[in-house]
Amino acid sequence: MVDEQDQALSEIAAAATLADLEAIRVAKLGKAGTITALLKMLGGMTPEQRQAEGPKIHALREAATAAIADRKAALEAAALDARLATETLDMSLAVSNGSQGSVHPVSQVMDELAEIFADLGFAVATGPEIEDDWHNFTALNIPETHPARAMHDTFYFPDGEDGAKKMLLRTHTSPVQIRTMLNQKPPIRIIAPGRTYRSDSDATHTPMFHQVEGLVIDRGIHMGHLKWTLETFVKAFFERDDIVLRLRPSFFPFTEPSAEVDVGFTWDKGRRVIGGDPAVGNGGWMEILGSGMVHPKVIAACGLDPDEWQGFAFGCGIDRLAMLKYGMDDLRAFFDGDLRWLKHYGFAALDVPTLSGGVGA
Ligand code: DAH
Repeated sequence: MVDEQDQALSEIAAAATLADLEAIRVAKLGKAGTITALLKMLGGMTPEQRQAEGPKIHALREAATAAIADRKAALEAAALDARLATETLDMSLAVSNGSQGSVHPVSQVMDELAEIFADLGFAVATGPEIEDDWHNFTALNIPETHPARAMHDTFYFPDGEDGAKKMLLRTHTSPVQIRTMLNQKPPIRIIAPGRTYRSDSDATHTPMFHQVEGLVIDRGIHMGHLKWTLETFVKAFFERDDIVLRLRPSFFPFTEPSAEVDVGFTWDKGRRVIGGDPAVGNGGWMEILGSGMVHPKVIAACGLDPDEWQGFAFGCGIDRLAMLKYGMDDLRAFFDGDLRWLKHYGFAALDVPTLSGGVGA
């Protein structure tokens, strides 16, 4: 029995592969295995014989079983080490310059916006592109009969069952204002970049486009905060200190007062550039966004007391910002997926915008 055990243990220790080890296990402990045969003999023994032999046979089986488990663990660890040795990754290698993809200017501008506003203490908020009528219009002080509903060229979903909410593709990012005020306690400082939809299509309009919404809700907020925030943002975005903004009185149902914001442009070597004194040469103004003080009705619709909380908001077309900054002239090309366009206007994946490195670098 001792010989049998020595023999089994040395065979197990010598097994070079998991397959060899399995063959040994079958030969010893399988149905027709040698140790199994010894166990079977116990049944035919006298009680005295069994008392003498039983413990030895059981000890043999246990020793073999334990040795097989140990050997299996060792072989598996060795196999893993061998595999890892063939799968090394050199973290110091340079990025392959054969890389194909590029970051779309819209994504790049969204990253730039997030970076600029994060520095001012704004978080990024999101909302659904499939909205209901209440968030997209009613809560924003655009009641059912308001002409602004018609102005938005809304894509509506077919009517659902009776009583179901009317669903639509959001026509602006403003409903994210509502969702944020409903879900968060003031003070609030967010921007909400994302896709928006209107049934409109020409060189400067596509049925799907991108906006960024801004919202600040706090105590004692006034137009001065709005103007400073927009100036700081536009200067950082266009990376120029000589940016001139003009706030023009306007109307939006969800703000009172409302202002449209123009940025001054000048000419440089036959190209129109944002920045500089618009009164010089053929310079002029270009509208870039809508803004205003959040209407008390909007604040109240979100369950906040407008006597305690005030705020400002703005909404801005991201595609247009990208066109102005990076010099594209046809919006439709943004969404054609033409690889030549993407190669030309796209950004390298590792060009992450940072304020210190220049957000558009
Ligand atoms: N939602 C407006 C639009 O799509 C843009 C806008 C204007 C948003 C003024 C605002 C705002 O938050 O205050 O035309």
